[in-house]
Amino acid sequence: MKVPLRFLLNGREVALEVQPHARLLDALRDYAGLTGTKEGCGEGECGACTVLVDGRAVNSCLYPALEAEGCAVLTVEGLVSAQGGLSELQQAFVEEGGAQCGFCTPGMVMSAAALLSENAAPSDDEIREALVGNLCRCTGYTQIVASIRAAAQKAGKAQS
Ligand code: FES
Ligand code: FES
Repeated sequence: MKVPLRFLLNGREVALEVQPHARLLDALRDYAGLTGTKEGCGEGECGACTVLVDGRAVNSCLYPALEAEGCAVLTVEGLVSAQGGLSELQQAFVEEGGAQCGFCTPGMVMSAAALLSENAAPSDDEIREALVGNLCRCTGYTQIVASIRAAAQKAGKAQS
C-alpha cells in the first residue's frame, strides 16, 4: 500500500504516493520523474545520488523518502540560472573539464552547491573536504576542484 508524501521539490510543492520503504532517490527518479540524480552504489559510498534536504547534502539512496515530508529538496534540476540555462556552478564544470562521463557530476555539483551556500570562498582543501563522499572514476578530481574554485571566484567577482 502506498502512502502520501508531500514536500517542496526545487521550489515547487509535490504530492506523491510512494511505497513506505521507498528511498528519497526512488521518490525523485521513479515517482517525480526527475532522473538527474544518479544511483551509483546504492549503499552510501559514492555520492552520485547527493541532493540537498533543507540545505544539507544527503545521500538520497540511504534517505527514507518519508523523512522528506514537509522538507525542501533541491536536485540538480533545480540549479538552473534565472534564464533557465545552466547555473554558473554547472557552467564552470563544463568550462573547467569537471565532467567527463558525467555520472558523478550531479552529486558533485550538489555537494559543491551545499559548500558554496555556506562558504562563498572556500580554499582548495575545503573544496576537497566537501567532496570527500563523492567518488569520480574519470577526472582525477583536479578539474572538479578547479570547477568549484572557478565558480566561487566568478560569484565573488560578480558581488564586488
Ligand atoms: S548511490 Fe547513493 S551514495 Fe552511491
Ligand atoms: S566524470 Fe565520470 S565518474 Fe566522474
